[in-house]
Amino acid sequence: MSSADTPKTAKSVFIKTYGCQMNVYDSERMRDVLRPLGYAPVDSPETADLVVLNTCHIREKATEKVYSELGQLKRMKEESGGKMTIAVAGCVAQAEGEEIMRRQPAVDLVLGPQAYHKLPEMIARASRAVGDRLETEFDTLEKFDALPKTREADGPTAFLSVQEGCDKFCTFCVVPYTRGAELSRPVDDITLEARALAAQGVREISLLGQNVNAFHGASPALTNESDWTLGQLVRHLAKIGGIERIRYTTSHPRDMDNDLIAAHGDTPQMQPFLHLPVQSGSDRILKAMNRGHTADEYREIIRKVRESQPDIAMASDFIVGFPGESDEDFEATMQLVRDVNYAIAYSFKYSPRPGTPAAEMFGQVPEEVKDARLQALQKLLREQQIAFNESKIGHTVAVLVTGRGRLEGQAHGRSPWMQAVHFNGPAELTGEIVDVKITGASLNSLSGELVRAREVAL
Ligand code: 5AD
Ligand code: SF4
Repeated sequence: MSSADTPKTAKSVFIKTYGCQMNVYDSERMRDVLRPLGYAPVDSPETADLVVLNTCHIREKATEKVYSELGQLKRMKEESGGKMTIAVAGCVAQAEGEEIMRRQPAVDLVLGPQAYHKLPEMIARASRAVGDRLETEFDTLEKFDALPKTREADGPTAFLSVQEGCDKFCTFCVVPYTRGAELSRPVDDITLEARALAAQGVREISLLGQNVNAFHGASPALTNESDWTLGQLVRHLAKIGGIERIRYTTSHPRDMDNDLIAAHGDTPQMQPFLHLPVQSGSDRILKAMNRGHTADEYREIIRKVRESQPDIAMASDFIVGFPGESDEDFEATMQLVRDVNYAIAYSFKYSPRPGTPAAEMFGQVPEEVKDARLQALQKLLREQQIAFNESKIGHTVAVLVTGRGRLEGQAHGRSPWMQAVHFNGPAELTGEIVDVKITGASLNSLSGELVRAREVAL
């Protein structure tokens, strides 16, 4: 299209996403909200009319990145003659809204995670230079209700938000403050969204929530039962034609009920992968973290999950250097890792977050000790991850093809256990589940040869 053909209303938006998958989902939905206003997504901020930073407040590093990015955007805005609109969304916006506007006057709009459906209205107000620049009220249900019911799918995998917020109040975590109280979406809305995604060729949905297995959504249309569990929801969504794979993330050990565990074994769409953060292997630290379970209770959950689905790959999050963590506590974490054997794990140094109880606790651990523990833990986790990936060599694996590979004639996809898989095959297979014989493994991916395209029963 030549520039003469470009509609006068055509504008561009660049959204940069930090942090968790919930933010990735929210960014997609922001694009949906903006599309009817004529905003087309672009890949870089330089010439964008609207730049949105969808931020993460979970650790200090994530927050600082936002301020440095804003410094760069300010210069771009000046070069554009002030035409660029800068919006800060997400959890930093929620936690530090006033401070963002004070520290960086180039910011036009600040909106918390419950407010992005108001983005069009806020942009309109900002362009008229009237009204509030800050929108951080909590009303999750209003947000879910106000979002467009249709979504443009972007490939064969999609996130689907089913729950937001968290009431667990782990003593290190900002999420209950930035995302608010736990709230589940109605089952009927989730079903509509899942059907619409399936109709557009989505084969794998990842049900998302900060505390996804605390899901207790109501379904006035489908049943008169007041609350559904996540296990029920999974079984229900599995009946939608075209949905071949279902995942969910992120779970809390306390909400791992027997029905959800059983669904891993009896629902073929449920993928053999479970991200179940434990944070620490020491009972003393788990108590100080307010996690509400012991290390042995966590081991027992995993035993039951493996009994239900022997092929399951385990994933987790860990924090080292929580206040008061001794060498012995840290060793208990290492022992738990050895006992469970993880396929994938994320590990972090404890980062004190203002306003959380742990930030005020005695016994803050020196940075060098945190560094040494993180290195030791990550070394062990890397060894387990490589060993898991190598254990797939020689096996034929069902791969959902997600697109063209980097090399000519190569396609890539995703294994049931979440690894990226590269293999020789045409990109036209995108959206199909194919058999790939694994011939190579590295820390982050598998490679192999296409055996055959499968018959997919739709
Ligand atoms: N410091 C370090 N890591 C944290 N996480 C959450 N809060 C903190 C913090 N204050 C980690 C937890 C959580 C993951 C999303 O981030 O491991 O599961
Ligand atoms: Fe944060 Fe704990 Fe809630 Fe997870 S369960 S979001 S770590 S408070």
